Amino acid sequence: MANRQSLIAGNWKLNGTRSSVVKLASEISVGAGSLGVEILVCPVSVHLADALTVVGNSPVHLGAQNCSDAVTGALTGEVSADMLVEFGCEYVIAGHSERRALFHESSEQVAAKCLAVQKAGMTPILCVGETLEQRETGQVETVIASQLDALLDVGGIDAFRQLVIAYEPVWAIGTGKTASPEQAQAVHEMIRERIATQDAEVGDALRILYGGSVKPDNAALLFSQPDIDGGLIGGAALDAESFLAICEAAATTSDSAPIGSPAR
Ligand code: 13P
Repeated sequence: MANRQSLIAGNWKLNGTRSSVVKLASEISVGAGSLGVEILVCPVSVHLADALTVVGNSPVHLGAQNCSDAVTGALTGEVSADMLVEFGCEYVIAGHSERRALFHESSEQVAAKCLAVQKAGMTPILCVGETLEQRETGQVETVIASQLDALLDVGGIDAFRQLVIAYEPVWAIGTGKTASPEQAQAVHEMIRERIATQDAEVGDALRILYGGSVKPDNAALLFSQPDIDGGLIGGAALDAESFLAICEAAATTSDSAPIGSPAR
């Protein structure tokens, strides 16, 4: 099995002020110490510069929540991947279910964003997941397969080399309902197998995060599943103590985490 380093990513969504972001990023940076898991925070784009002043000299990595698939152009309100690189971003979340549902992003657009992020030298975190209705009507595999295939179609298996997947069942996001460790593991395994059929090595190395009401009290059980390589955390990432407790859960359940700060 590949030596997959756990990743705990905080998706701060539309929250914070310049000062609260600096405070939260500082508390996380101080606590991150040498946990041996990779830690990432994703504030809104206008807060990236402030966050960078804090995490720039710490083991904590910086990411964005979204970006355009275009490099430049008449696209009012958009932010390009190259612009995010200038603010120290190493990751960009692509295709979060909130963007798919509320901003009508198609899997094809999400795939184009992933390629743009990689072209700029960063790593996309491709979000996939089913709604409650899709789960109840037995469509989990079909839905997730089509979300993955949209990227395979345009980028091939190579698009999965520098990429993280986040499985976020829509019904578990912000609801307090979590997929059981067994439910999450089953989907993670299915995702890995689908990629591994294209290339066993890529499938084995692919980091697959779970997201959806991860809290300090359910994190360890989720992270101890063999195909769960960390988490994409929403609400609990807005509180440094909770977020660090989740990072610690990943550190204690990870059998492959190197000791010391993750390499930049
Ligand atoms: P919650 O952890 O608040 O459920 O949010 C999950 C999420 O959407 C992370 O991207």
